Amino acid sequence: MDSIHIWGGVALQGEVCIQGSKNATLPILAATLLTGECSYIGNCPRISDVYAMTSLLQSLGCIVSWQENGILVDSSRVKRGDMCSEAVRGMRSSLCLLGAMLGRCGEVVMEHPGGCVIGSRPIDLHISALEQMGVEFQEEAGLLKAFAPRLHGARIRLPKPSVGATENIILAGVMAEGDTVLEGAAREPEVTALCRYLQGCGACIEGIGTECLGIRGGRKLYGTDFRVPADRIVAGTYLLACIGTGGSIFLENAPREEMKAVTDLARRMGGKLCISEKGIYVQGPDRPRAVECIRTEPYPGFPTDLQSVALAVETVGDGDTVIEERIFENRFRVVEELRRMGACIEQTDEARVLVRGVPVLHGACTEAKELRGGAALVAAGLMARGKSCVSGCLYIYRGYENICRDFRELGARIISV
Ligand code: EPZ
Repeated sequence: MDSIHIWGGVALQGEVCIQGSKNATLPILAATLLTGECSYIGNCPRISDVYAMTSLLQSLGCIVSWQENGILVDSSRVKRGDMCSEAVRGMRSSLCLLGAMLGRCGEVVMEHPGGCVIGSRPIDLHISALEQMGVEFQEEAGLLKAFAPRLHGARIRLPKPSVGATENIILAGVMAEGDTVLEGAAREPEVTALCRYLQGCGACIEGIGTECLGIRGGRKLYGTDFRVPADRIVAGTYLLACIGTGGSIFLENAPREEMKAVTDLARRMGGKLCISEKGIYVQGPDRPRAVECIRTEPYPGFPTDLQSVALAVETVGDGDTVIEERIFENRFRVVEELRRMGACIEQTDEARVLVRGVPVLHGACTEAKELRGGAALVAAGLMARGKSCVSGCLYIYRGYENICRDFRELGARIISV
């Protein structure tokens, strides 16, 4: 089941319910370690990154079980933090276990979390921030050893709003002796969701959603129930695919208040949107308008995770579009695959590509090299005339619960094989 076959050229029609957020679920699951009690995390997506995180929690001594569409975690019997497993190697989001394990046990040994094709994925910001909180690091033979004889609060300024570093500082800060002030914090909704869960456990965090967080340390945290918000990137993927196919769809429970940059872009592309508390209705144009420049930025700017999908849509735009990637250093791997489908794309420098819209793409065999590029290739297959086959789809299943099921509900002719 590593390939997806698509018979494209069909305008998407119908409605689809949006899954829970992968990038909110992962740090919140890590945060359940801090309570030493039971927490129920509802609306978790059934995706491989979440399965990998639950197996890591079990390897640390947690009792983990799925109940309906949520996960019950009992972290009362957590052991020392040895996490040398294939799950850590292949999954960047395990990095949030660093802060959680330091907060819970004061030490952790883990394999250096893997980078991926979108960039080297350094962790220097995590390390320098946690060192200011009293953590000592050793790196040897591919292992990252961290221990905090006395984890304490600090005044920290992040030079760039790293989501993962912000999450690790929060996870350590709520358990540290004394308070932490974090300036330059990431404002992504997934960070806000983590803070809301921790508040539910009894933590005291101020400035949530802003770039300056005040984190009270040393408070006892209790297990609680929490519902993960809908996934804004999955909703944005389907919304932009609708723009690219000229369809009309309803995205049930799409997190509209977190998607302003995406809905603004959809309107600039010629989409007509109706947004309500129930979700987002979108009607695509006959042909996407070529937006002069699409630039990725930290939240609340246009999200880097939707850059590849927006790029795919503009390959059939009615003119030229510059795509500027300002978050990761190598997020244009999908370009060579889109060219196989007839796209006309020129990489002008490391951070920019120029897309010259063509009237139509043709089906082709392409290969996903990472999660969001893979989703973009599926969207391109839906837009293209004829049959497309996307291989390497295990990457896609890391973040999309069932992309074929969802697009079939929207009238697409698509199967996974
Ligand atoms: C999170 O990754 C998301 N992953 C990514 O989503 C998302 O693209 C990214 O944030 C940006 O929004 C999860 O939440 C699991 P960063 P993260 O630290 O935390 C540099 C997806 O498809 N940096 O905000 O790893 C880094 O190289 C994934 O769901 C340092 O230089 O991203 C990048 O250029 C892909 N040093 C920039 O900051 C550090 O110590 C932003 O990275 C850390 C990061």
